[in-house]
Amino acid sequence: MTGMLARWSPRAWARSLWQHLVKSHTSPGRLALAVAVGIFIGHLPIIPFHFFATVIVCWIFRLNTATTYLAANVSNPFLLPFLVFGSVQAGHLLLEGSFLPVGVAQLAEEGPKRFFSALLLGSVVQGALLGGFLGALTYVVLRRRRRGRPPEPIEVAMDDVASRYARGRRAAYHYVRSKLRTDPVARAVAERAPAGGDVIDLGCGRGQTAVLLAVLDPTRRVRGIDWDETKLGDARDAAAGLSATFERADVREAQLPPASCDALLVLDVLHYLPKATQDEVLARACRAIRPGGTLLVREMDDARGWRSWATRAEERVFTTLRFNRGERLVFRPAAELVALCEQEGLEVTVEPMWGSTPFANVLVEARRPTTG
Ligand SMILES: C[S@@+](CC[C@H](N)C(=O)[O-])C[C@H]1O[C@@H](n2cnc3c(N)ncnc32)[C@H](O)[C@@H]1O
Repeated sequence: MTGMLARWSPRAWARSLWQHLVKSHTSPGRLALAVAVGIFIGHLPIIPFHFFATVIVCWIFRLNTATTYLAANVSNPFLLPFLVFGSVQAGHLLLEGSFLPVGVAQLAEEGPKRFFSALLLGSVVQGALLGGFLGALTYVVLRRRRRGRPPEPIEVAMDDVASRYARGRRAAYHYVRSKLRTDPVARAVAERAPAGGDVIDLGCGRGQTAVLLAVLDPTRRVRGIDWDETKLGDARDAAAGLSATFERADVREAQLPPASCDALLVLDVLHYLPKATQDEVLARACRAIRPGGTLLVREMDDARGWRSWATRAEERVFTTLRFNRGERLVFRPAAELVALCEQEGLEVTVEPMWGSTPFANVLVEARRPTTG
């Protein structure tokens, strides 16, 4: 696949859209909130704008868009007359202290201004009450159903990983737990890494992804590399009893012998290095991949417009606050990384890996073919 084609794949785009609209924010609490907000929006007398209102509100408050929009369709042709009737009556009761008598003459006497005032107030009140009720009902039903559902193996493994960090520093525990829950990259890596074999996590940080891979498949030999001794300490404590080691090294000098590993992760690290060094580290990483093995690189794609801008701003704030020890931030179009991996004989795909954030992170998956 060429760099340009790899950068925009309709399949990856459709998958990401599906993930964003349907699969994200699906905990019982978030879905219940989506139902409540959707019902509320559906009540507002702005029918042509329900869709846009839904998209904007879901983006701001991180709600499941499909559920919210479905709930907003409470104002469908069958229910709309009842909703309007109920809203007008509720509004009239609040404004005038009485229900609106039903009849054409009474409506004419009421006048459009008082009618629409009653409709507006009533739709807000009725929408909030009905939304609150149906949201609460959704929560109760989902909690009951999920209690009976066996968790997926990856969910069990993530809980196990988080609980391993609970033995150490509280800050590391909370970071890892939230990172595993909210960042799609750990699940994506777990789905793409080959079974067994040697795994290297370059710039592993607190090591949660490395530990997750070791928990999911104890036959893997996992090696994490970072230069931050505090984070490495968290990783070592969490990896007790697993086939995972963590060593202090600069990724620019780390030992990556040719054909030495089956999976190599470089997640959110390259942009701390100058461009030429990125190329050099990436080329060594490619050569370290055995036939059938996979290199997984997550980076910000600097060719994604406003998303790229938002990522740059966020990284600058974090680096300034010294959460990440990095000398500089060098972001570049993902197509450049793709081209480099392809030069090294790997087959590459790129897909969005920004979850529900406004950032421009992508996952570059580069596989070394088993033959040739
Ligand atoms: C944003 S964190 C990502 C950590 C981890 N890969 C993850 O996904 O959670 C970047 C990490 O790269 C490490 N790092 C940056 N430059 C490095 C270098 N030259 N050598 C070793 N580690 C480095 C930092 O210490 C930090 O832990």
